[in-house]
Amino acid sequence: MFRTKTCGELRLCDAGTTVTLAGWVQRVRKMGGMTFVDLRDRYGITQLTFNQEVNAALCDAANKLGREYVIQVTGTVCERSSKNPNLPTGEIEIVASELNLLNASATPPFTIEDESDGGDDLRMQFRYLDLRRSCVRKNLELRHKMAFEVRRYLDAQNFLEVETPVLIKSTPEGARDFVVPSRMNPGEFYALPQSPQTFKQLLMVAGFDRYFQIVKCFRDEDLRADRQPEFTQIDCEMSFVEQEDVLNIFEGMAKHLFKYIKNIDFTEPFLRMPYCDAMKYYGSDKPDLRFGMRFVELKDLTEGHNFGVFDSAEYVGGICAEGCASYTRKQLDELTELVKRPQVGAKGLVYVRYGEDGVLKSSVDKFYTQDDLQAWAERFGAKRGDLMLILAGDTVKTQKALCELRLEMGERLGLRDRNKFAPLWVVDFPLLEWDEETQRFYAMHHPFTSPKPEDIQYLESDPGRVRANAYDMVVNGIELGGGSIRIHDRALQNQMFKLLGFTEEKAYYQFGFLLDAFKYGAPPHGGLAFGFDRFVSLFAGLDSIRDCIAFPKNNSGRDTMSGAPSVIDDSQLEELNLKIDLKEHK
Ligand code: AMO
Repeated sequence: MFRTKTCGELRLCDAGTTVTLAGWVQRVRKMGGMTFVDLRDRYGITQLTFNQEVNAALCDAANKLGREYVIQVTGTVCERSSKNPNLPTGEIEIVASELNLLNASATPPFTIEDESDGGDDLRMQFRYLDLRRSCVRKNLELRHKMAFEVRRYLDAQNFLEVETPVLIKSTPEGARDFVVPSRMNPGEFYALPQSPQTFKQLLMVAGFDRYFQIVKCFRDEDLRADRQPEFTQIDCEMSFVEQEDVLNIFEGMAKHLFKYIKNIDFTEPFLRMPYCDAMKYYGSDKPDLRFGMRFVELKDLTEGHNFGVFDSAEYVGGICAEGCASYTRKQLDELTELVKRPQVGAKGLVYVRYGEDGVLKSSVDKFYTQDDLQAWAERFGAKRGDLMLILAGDTVKTQKALCELRLEMGERLGLRDRNKFAPLWVVDFPLLEWDEETQRFYAMHHPFTSPKPEDIQYLESDPGRVRANAYDMVVNGIELGGGSIRIHDRALQNQMFKLLGFTEEKAYYQFGFLLDAFKYGAPPHGGLAFGFDRFVSLFAGLDSIRDCIAFPKNNSGRDTMSGAPSVIDDSQLEELNLKIDLKEHK
C-alpha cells in the first residue's frame, strides 16, 4: 500500500500511531537542526518534521526536496508544539522515520497556493498545476457533488438518463454550429450539437416520458465570462405536461440543490415574473432581485417644460439610489461616463439629489421647479438623502442602459451579495423576435416552442404580439436555465417554420426527421435545460464559469494548454477531401 492515511485526515486523537502518507511537497522550511515539509494531496496538507540530531541522513534527504516533488513518508503522528489553527491537521505533525522520493519535479511556473503569483494565462497553460490549488479543486468537487445531487433528485422523479449523439445534422438556428468533416462521406459534415433539443423531443415520441442528460453542448459564439464554446447542460424533457408541471419539477430540483449543497431552504414558491414586467422594471429578462431599485417611469411628469431631451424622448425613467445624495461631482461623472459607453448607449444622465435639508437639487433645475422635482421624488418613493438617476431616449435602449446603471449602483452599494440568492421564473416570453438587419422574425427561444393557445389567433396578423409557453429560471441576474412547452402538432409546426422564413423544402431538409416523427403520435411535451457550469459557478461564487471547468477555453476559444485548435496535416486534409484556402484571412 502506498499510503495508510491521506494528508487531510490526521487529528490529535491519532497521536502515537505510525502512518504512511504520499503526496506533493508544498514547502520546505529549515529552522536550525529541524526541517519542516508541508505535504499536500487532494485531501489537505500535513506537516512532516525531520530532525538533524535524530537522523542526519534522512534530514539531508528532506533538505534536498524541491517544490512539487512527489514523496512517500512513514512516521509517527505527534502533537505539535506550535499549533496552526488555520489547518484541519494543524494540531499534529508527522515525525518522519522513512522518506521515499517517488518523483522529482521541475520548478513550477507559479506558486501552487490559493494566492498564486501566476496570471490567468500562465495558469491556463499549466492547468494541471492550477488544478492542484485547493481553491480550484474545491470548485470541481462542488461540481461533482451537484451533478450527483441532480441525478439523485431526477432519478427519484422517474427521469431516465439517456445519451444522445454528438455527431449530428447541422441545423444552424440560434448560434453557429461547430462542424466536423466526414471522411466516409466526402464533402459532407456533421455538426456538434448546440443542445440535444431535437433528440430529446424524439425520445418523447419514443415514449420515454421523462428524460434527462448531463451533456456537453457546443456553440460557436462570442465568448464571455458566462459562455464557453463547449459547456454542460442539465437537459430535461417530459411528456404529458403543461408549463406548470415543468416549473414545479425543476423548481423542486433547484430547491433540492440549494438545500443539499448550500444548506438553504426555500420554503416559498419562486417568484414568477412576466417578461414584459422584467423589461419594464429591470430592463432585462434576467433581473437581479437581490435588491430593489425598480425603474420608475416619469414621462408624464417631465413633459412640457421645454427640456428638449425629455420632451423628444419616447421614454423617461430612472432609479432611486438610497442614501446617495452626497455623491460627489466626480462620482456622478463616472456614472455618466458609464451610461455613455457605446455598449450602454445613453446620451447623458440627469440626477436629482434629495438633500438632508429637504431641498431637491438637480442637473435640470433650469427647467423644473421644486414642486416638479417633489412630484418626481414622490413617484420614486425617495426620501431625504437619496439620489435619483434618470435616463431618456428610445424605450428599449434606455431601459437596457438603466439596467446597467442599476446593476452598477447595486454593486457600489454592496447589494449584490454572493451569499444571498434571489431566484425567480421569468415567464410569458414573446414567441418571436424581429431582426432589423435581416428583416425577419427569429424564434426567441427555438422554432419548436409552442405559442400560448390564446395568442395563436395573432400568428398571422400580428406575430410580434404572440407570447410563448417559454420560461427561464434566473438567479441573481444569471439565466441559469430555460425551456418551453413544445409544438407537437405538425400543422402548427409548419406554420411556425413559415413565419420564421423557412420554405417547406428547407424546413423538411433541416428538420424532416422530427416532422416525420410527429406523424406517429407525438405526445404533448415540454422541458428545459440548465446551464450546469453557470449553476456551479453561482454556488461557488465565481466570476467566470471557466473556474469550475477542469480544462476550459480562453476568450478566443483556445485551449492554450494543448494548443487547440491547430492546423492538421496535409495527409489528414487529403483523407477528408478538403482544401484550405485562407486567402481572405490574415
Ligand atoms: P438555451 O439555449 O437557453 O436552451 O440553453 C440553456 C441554458 O444553457 C446555458 N448556456 C450556456 N452556458 C455556458 N456557455 C454557453 N455558451 C451557453 N449557452 C447556453 C444557459 C442557458 O439558460 N434546448 C434548449 C433548452 C430547452 O428548450 O429545453 C436550450 O439549449 O444557462
